[in-house]
Amino acid sequence: MDANIFFGSTELTSSSYSERKSPYSGQVVSRACVCSQEDAIKALNIADKAAKEAKKSTLSQRCNWLLDVASKLKENREDMAQTITDEVGKPIAFARIEVDRCIETVTLSAETMRTMHGETINTDAMVSGKKTTAFFTREPAGVVVAITPFNFPLNLVAHKLAPALVAGNAVVLKPTPEAPLTAYKFAKLFIDSEYAIKDALSVVYGDAEVGSALISSDIPRVISFTGSVPVGNIITKIAGIKKVSLELGGNAATYIDASADLNLAAARCAFGAFVNSGQVCISLQRIYVNTDIYDEFALRMAEETKKLVVGSPYDDDTFLGPLIDDESASRAMRWVESAMTEGAKPLLPLQRDGRMFNPCVMADVRDDMSIVCEEVFAPIVSLIKVDNFDDALPRMNNSPYGLQFSVFTNDLRITQRAISELEAGGIVINDIPTLRFDIQPYGGIKLSGVGREGPKFAIEEMTEVKSVIIC
Ligand code: SIN
Repeated sequence: MDANIFFGSTELTSSSYSERKSPYSGQVVSRACVCSQEDAIKALNIADKAAKEAKKSTLSQRCNWLLDVASKLKENREDMAQTITDEVGKPIAFARIEVDRCIETVTLSAETMRTMHGETINTDAMVSGKKTTAFFTREPAGVVVAITPFNFPLNLVAHKLAPALVAGNAVVLKPTPEAPLTAYKFAKLFIDSEYAIKDALSVVYGDAEVGSALISSDIPRVISFTGSVPVGNIITKIAGIKKVSLELGGNAATYIDASADLNLAAARCAFGAFVNSGQVCISLQRIYVNTDIYDEFALRMAEETKKLVVGSPYDDDTFLGPLIDDESASRAMRWVESAMTEGAKPLLPLQRDGRMFNPCVMADVRDDMSIVCEEVFAPIVSLIKVDNFDDALPRMNNSPYGLQFSVFTNDLRITQRAISELEAGGIVINDIPTLRFDIQPYGGIKLSGVGREGPKFAIEEMTEVKSVIIC
């Protein structure tokens, strides 16, 4: 099935399509319209006009719009999950979870916006002030460009479209080339809704060229991007004066204290390291383990990992499907082999067959090995022995990234120090750093990005505060 362009509410076929092949079977699963820079500019011009109408629309209409999309998505849950699995090889059980999350993200965006409002300001609180009627309101920013990645090809689109549209903006979406049909089907639910604001959503496809036309234009007021650090860097250079929200990479870490519940920690760490084959920005990559319980934890971690089923993403009980492409699998293997030549040891047999990569738990690693200090985005986790939390803390922080961290502990003092001293956008106590609730503020510091997602926080990024004083 084809992912066609949406120039606003007008759907167009093309004379030229690019094929998307399943990373599992290699078969063609979808085709996307090939778009040019001119298409990107055309979509922006349509969005520019639509933004003026969107601003005049009522919040009630926009909330009904999102609730209608959420309800249609519920009806199409299985089809959408199958499309995700076809395009990116995500195991079907997790594709279904992604659809369920997306339904909640869209619903929550409507609920959040319904009750978001400005505040009154006490201008007479200033020495030089006086009594006035003063307040601020929130206005839609205008046109939002949304650029989304392959690893959550539906819910990360929802985290941009739903807050932007319910806040009264117009959006041009450029989804990942790896999952055009997932994005197309989702966008179509918005565009076909009886509550839709005409032309408020456009969808174009393509790579860097199309992206750079969207980003460098003066039309958008907000760029919302989720993806890699190199692309994030380019965006900040070419965007000019507009708001830029970047959700970039990470190399998430946890500390396992001697006081922790080891059964819980091992089971959750296996989940956090290997869910979606490690292709998650908050995938657990570094586990700093207190030396007193290191051997016991390593044993349990290996046991938990052995339980995870690697196989066809279409089987209900598969935990790990294929990696997204050959290069990702080759790079992961290169990094593991290079670590092994320097003394690191896999706790389970290493196994790779093309894009299928078995979960890999590495011991005896050093902090400067690529599998530890780079973002691996593959099913590889490293166990690192530490004396105590004082030893772990600077090593966890010694990273160019700062997305999410966690600690497993029953020691209140360690909990308090973790919250105040770990350098990241999010801290989780007694669970994995891979934990994300769609309602929370989500985003990082350092190279992990700028800005926060989560409906309330994304709406703040995608609106402008207007200050009013009536004297
Ligand atoms: C991400 O990879 O940044 C998204 C993680 C998630 O939504 O669970």
